[in-house]
Amino acid sequence: MTATKDGAACRRRAEAALCRAVKASPPARSATLSVAGGPSRKYLRKNKCVMFKRNDLNNMLMKPELIVALDRPSSREAGLIFSRLPDQIQWYKIGLELFTAEGPPVLQLLKEKQKKIFLDLKLHDIPNTVARAVRAAAGHGVSLLTVHALGGEAMLKAAAEAVKTIGEKAPQIIAVTVLTSHSQEDLAAIGVRGKISDQVLRLAELALKCGADGLVASVNEAQVLRKKFGENFILVVPGIRPSGAETGDQKRVATPAVAMNAGADFLVVGRPIIDASDPHAAANAILEEMAEAADRRIGR
Ligand code: C5P
Repeated sequence: MTATKDGAACRRRAEAALCRAVKASPPARSATLSVAGGPSRKYLRKNKCVMFKRNDLNNMLMKPELIVALDRPSSREAGLIFSRLPDQIQWYKIGLELFTAEGPPVLQLLKEKQKKIFLDLKLHDIPNTVARAVRAAAGHGVSLLTVHALGGEAMLKAAAEAVKTIGEKAPQIIAVTVLTSHSQEDLAAIGVRGKISDQVLRLAELALKCGADGLVASVNEAQVLRKKFGENFILVVPGIRPSGAETGDQKRVATPAVAMNAGADFLVVGRPIIDASDPHAAANAILEEMAEAADRRIGR
């Protein structure tokens, strides 16, 4: 998946078109579909108008993409978790703990394995400092980079301008709205009046106006963000918990299926995978839940 604003909109249009195509040409009862490979010949013969392979369909509908947060204190521990996860996972998040402990060399393993990197540094400082940090981060070949929308107009514009000078390999700037660990009371305690959703919308509008490519928000606000700002931005949703999992410090949580239906492009999952006794199985269970939700979406 290429994380571009246009890409996100394009994918959604493609997905809608595919859903329509599938509904218009349901497989004949005797047709069997191979989920792992392409459609059966019988299916293709009976459904000539369906000109795509099942693999393409799966790839296009396996949205949003899963990002595993490698929240570990050292490269060694992050590497251990990484080695226990399915190769199918393309995206990894490196956050404050690991990056502060190990610095840029920690990205090397992921780059060697051709994985995409979400560098979640949540930059929040004066515009000049953020612009310089953005340029430095861009030099590490990461795909997504976070800044805090609370940094305000000048800072957000400085971040957006900084990546323009980098060219094609520039990361997408993703603005964090309100942390998923924040509740209504937490917001009140730091002097923000009104509803969380209003604060998220306010910050989202500011960030997109200033040139951010996407937003981080909880699932509670995902739908309203899509309604207000459309498809032309990347929506990253953390606070994902499979049914029955511990929420930890996260307050605004949802299952992968709910987040998918709310319009997320990326689901960020940390502890439910990396703290599991079997991270491989935990990741697979989430991928499975996402695949099932995608199936339900097209009524398979
Ligand atoms: O372990 P858990 O699934 O709660 O991890 C979520 C990850 O997403 C953490 O690495 C956290 O830093 C990050 N995140 C978040 N809320 C945001 C932005 C990022 O939880 N608003």
